[in-house]
Amino acid sequence: MDLELAGRSVIVTGGASNIGRGIALAFADEGARVWIADRDAEQARRVAEERSGLVAQETDVTDPQSVSRLVDAVVADAGTIDVLVNCAGWVMDRLFLEQPRDEWQHEIDVNFWGFLNCTRAVLESMTKRRRGRIVSIASDAGRIGEFREAVYSGTKAAVIATSKAIAREVGKHGITLNVVCPGVVPPKREATGTGSMWSGELAQMYSDEMLQKVVRAYTLRRLGTPEDIANAVLFLASERASYITGQTLSVDGGYVMA
Ligand SMILES: NC(=O)c1ccc[n+]([C@@H]2O[C@H](COP(=O)([O-])OP(=O)(O)OC[C@H]3O[C@@H](n4cnc5c(N)ncnc54)[C@H](O)[C@@H]3O)[C@@H](O)[C@H]2O)c1
Repeated sequence: MDLELAGRSVIVTGGASNIGRGIALAFADEGARVWIADRDAEQARRVAEERSGLVAQETDVTDPQSVSRLVDAVVADAGTIDVLVNCAGWVMDRLFLEQPRDEWQHEIDVNFWGFLNCTRAVLESMTKRRRGRIVSIASDAGRIGEFREAVYSGTKAAVIATSKAIAREVGKHGITLNVVCPGVVPPKREATGTGSMWSGELAQMYSDEMLQKVVRAYTLRRLGTPEDIANAVLFLASERASYITGQTLSVDGGYVMA
């Protein structure tokens, strides 16, 4: 199936690491031009060197002015934004009663404000062109509420509900919004930078023993890969998915069957 993504202009937030990197590389392999919009400029540059068609653009999704500079740069270069993938995110696994408020705030800022800032910013251009695809990476936590991820679950549920609400408003302009919910996708060491949530305490929490437990809970008995997530994202970003909007797809080896 030809996804007809060649020549499309694509923004992938959080594209410097793990899942976002996998998505950026997959779009590049289809011939798209991809802006890696990430706070971790050094790692974004490293990923941009992996394929032609990739551009690193230092961006903080929590800062509307930074997002505005990103959108201006893409429109100045490509004339339009065809696809936005909201992938930048952050989580720290702790019991709700033990999680400090600054971690709540950081999860809300990156996961929900980041989604709002980027989605709002690209809709101007997409509405004018009467075409656009927005695919946001949430999490199964946002569908079922995950142990030790209370506030994170709330931010991802917000991404799911808000995507549906905006989808209803902009469908008449030919714009779709859909959400992909990965299960656990541990990164390869070389595929993350210092900006990754996996570069600190979180990686230690996901020990080999813990990951084996996760595998046993997954129907297909394996962990996800960035490529698994990218396959779903590329389809939803393509013309082949032009009649699909407001949907939430778990890509998690059959963990959540909602
Ligand atoms: N990996 C998993 O197991 C998993 C599971 C479910 C959902 N998710 C979601 O998938 C997405 C990607 O996860 P990942 O494992 O690739 O994470 P990651 O931490 O490895 O990568 C996230 C990237 O986002 C960037 N980033 C963070 N804050 C930013 C900001 N304010 N502005 C711009 N960039 C910023 C980081 O620099 C990093 O490069 C996240 O939204 C996450 O919540 C991941």
